[in-house]
Parts: sequence; C-alpha cells; structure tokens
Amino acid sequence: MKIAVCGKGGVGKSTIAALLCGALLEKGYKVLAIDADPSPHLARLLGFKEADKVTPIAEMKDLLTARAEKDGPFYSLNPKVDDLPEKFTLVKNGLKLMVLGAVKEAGGGCACPEQTVLRRLLSFLLLQSKEAIVIDLEAGVEPFGRATISAIDAVLIVVQPYRGSIETAKQIAKMAKDLGVKKIFFVANNIEDKEDLIFLEKELGAQVLVHFPASQELARAERKGQSILDIEPPKKVAIKLVERLENHLK
Ligand SMILES: Nc1ncnc2c1ncn2[C@@H]1O[C@H](COP(=O)(O)OP(=O)(O)OP(=O)(O)O)[C@@H](O)[C@H]1O
Ligand SMILES: [Mg+2]
Repeated sequence: MKIAVCGKGGVGKSTIAALLCGALLEKGYKVLAIDADPSPHLARLLGFKEADKVTPIAEMKDLLTARAEKDGPFYSLNPKVDDLPEKFTLVKNGLKLMVLGAVKEAGGGCACPEQTVLRRLLSFLLLQSKEAIVIDLEAGVEPFGRATISAIDAVLIVVQPYRGSIETAKQIAKMAKDLGVKKIFFVANNIEDKEDLIFLEKELGAQVLVHFPASQELARAERKGQSILDIEPPKKVAIKLVERLENHLK
C-alpha cells in the first residue's frame, strides 16, 4: 500500500506517519518512509540517528530522467523498493527512509524538480503484498496543487478538533478527490475527550478512521529527539489504523 499523510501545519502529520510506519513494521510489513516535507523531521521520530547522511531524493533526478532518452534500467525494470540505490536510503530493522530534500536557502526556488522525482518514484515502484510506502507530506494544500500524490492508494488527512485544521482537512479532501485519489480518510489527532471527537466529526461532516489521544509522552519524546514508536496508547491506535487500512484497501 502507498499511503500519504497530510493536513494543516502542526496537526501531527509526522507523528502519525511515524506511528503508522511502526505499526506496519509490527504487522510484518517492509516499510519505505518518505519524508517529503522540505523541512524534514521524520527521521528523528523514527529513531534514525544519522539522518543528515542520506542523499535527498531530488538528487535521483539524473537516474530517473535519463531513461527518457534511452531505454535505461530504472524505469524499464519495474523497479522494486529493494532496487533503490543505497545512498538514497537509510535502513533499520525492515524500515527504509528516504528524504525528499530540504530547502537549502531562502529564496532557493520551488521544490518542483523534487516533486517530479517523487511522483515518478511513486508511480513506478512496484510493491509486493507485504510492502508499504508512507509519505509524510508538506503541510497544507500545496502538495495537492502539484499532482505529486496522484499515484498513491490512500490519503490520510490528519485533523485536530479546531476549526482551522478542519477547514484545511476539508479543502485537502476535495483536492485529493479531484486528483482522482480513490481512498481518502480522516484521522483525528490530539483528542482529549469524547466532546473533542463529537465536535470534530460534526464540523467535518464525516467520521474519522481512528482517533489518536492527546499524549504528553509523544510531545515529551519529540522534545528529547527520541523515537516515538513504542509509546502507548498511540501505538495501539496505529495498529488499529493499519488493520482498518488493510480492510479498506483489500
Ligand atoms: N497526539 C498528540 N499528543 C500530544 N502531542 C502531539 C500529538 N501529536 C503530535 N503532537 C506534538 O505536536 C507537535 C507537532 O507534531 P508533528 O511534528 O507531528 O506535526 P506536523 O503536522 O508534522 O507539523 P509540520 O506541519 O510542522 O510538519 C509535536 O511537538 C508533537 O510531539
Ligand atoms: Mg511534519
């Protein structure tokens, strides 16, 4: 399954993308996590220490575009995740991480080349049955203006119980639908109590797939720069999320 995680800035996209990766691993999947945020944080949440050593996906451009000229190896082979060149991936216990590329300087231009590479990768990579790709997208509606995510199986829109987040979530849902994404799910985050969830679902006009509770431990681990993969109860909710996705994507 190819899953993209999106939502308004700060709603917990990276947190939930990381927890989802952890739950998929727990369920026996091989996981490729892609941090597509121009200011990448996913590596830390997943417990990778050497995140700055990975070569950003953007630098795969030559590898991918040269094939247009000549029937070269990468596209034509129906590449699998295992074929990805090592320098572009960090690997740990069945988990691979790729980073789209940080914006290196102010006014450094748009991230279009990176987005093109990402779109090609997503459409050409062939997944085996127990393989998953989880993409932590840039905040807001931007990625949906670029059709980057048209090649994915499902979009998870992270939403918190406040109006700004809900408005953005609805906007994203519409754009994803217009792009032809078949499966669009809302995932609630930072839910304190039943009232939060009732408010959120009412304003959203839809039910969420799962809801993650507010968790001091998640916030604490983030502050310490630690992996969040083993924090309960979020870990349990993430397992439920995988099970529900499996049901919907069968
Ligand atoms: N369920 C939760 N309970 C408590 N804190 C949370 C929860 N989810 C996320 N947080 C905290 O909220 C902050 C933002 O989370 P995160 O970085 O995952 O958001 P994001 O949507 O990826 O942000 P950005 O738009 O900057 O990429 C972090 O400090 C994180 O620890
Ligand atoms: Mg993030």
